[in-house]
Amino acid sequence: MIIDGKKVAFLILEELKEKVKKFDKKPGLAVILANDDPSSRIYVASKEKHSLNLGYKSCVYRFDNSITQGKLTELIHELNENPDINGILVQLPLYSHLNESEIIELIDPRKDVDGFHPFNIGKLYAGFNPYAVCCTPKGIVKLLKAYNIKIEGKNALVIGRSNIVGKPVASLLSNENATVTLAHSKTQNLKEYTKNADIIVSATGKAKLITSSMVKKGAVVIDVGIIKQDNGRLVGDVDFEKVKDVASYITPVPGGVGPMTIACLMENTFELFLLHNKR
Ligand code: GUN
Repeated sequence: MIIDGKKVAFLILEELKEKVKKFDKKPGLAVILANDDPSSRIYVASKEKHSLNLGYKSCVYRFDNSITQGKLTELIHELNENPDINGILVQLPLYSHLNESEIIELIDPRKDVDGFHPFNIGKLYAGFNPYAVCCTPKGIVKLLKAYNIKIEGKNALVIGRSNIVGKPVASLLSNENATVTLAHSKTQNLKEYTKNADIIVSATGKAKLITSSMVKKGAVVIDVGIIKQDNGRLVGDVDFEKVKDVASYITPVPGGVGPMTIACLMENTFELFLLHNKR
């Protein structure tokens, strides 16, 4: 069965739209783009479009590579203090002259809409409630739940150990009582791990890394990869056409995990808005 991330995301966004209408104040999302990566530009434009669609206040700060660590630090301090801003998102990666971890640590954890601040990551790891849970991992677990896919007791294999997807999704799945293995580019005999997995989450950005002979019959396959081919087509980490005949559930690229990331970002912004407006 093909998991329709677009549909599940649409339902989340529709529900949010109704909730937002009940408030006079608008949730505010600030997005900082300080890199020259073409995909980041597309992601940021999409974040802005979705914010405006929901009636949020959207502030996007785009910088060329003359931006300094000091100027970015000033901006984060300003946004931390700005009562109209509920969520601050720093699109990653940053220009290589900027110190990424230092910038992320400057964000007020109560405005850390991406859930990347060590305070929120630590809470996630500990199984406590972070102010916000990283969007792609949150979206993946929501998709599994939307399709009533059991997580508890299952062998979940996460491939890729990034701070944005791999590590936090491994924590989330562990919190959901899966038995989690975290594989990465230095893992030997990946197939031994994939063959044993009930749930595979692949987040490597390597096209067709996961072939049908690597997947156990009936496994659930979640593809986080988005790779633009020379012909302009988007593909994932998984050889979709072949793996779909082996898997019980599989996410397509595009239309699987991607729309869920955006929907969860919008949901996180709204949740932080509620937190800041709690009486
Ligand atoms: N770069 C790639 N994915 C993401 C994301 O989800 N959030 C941010 N801030 N940067 C990213």
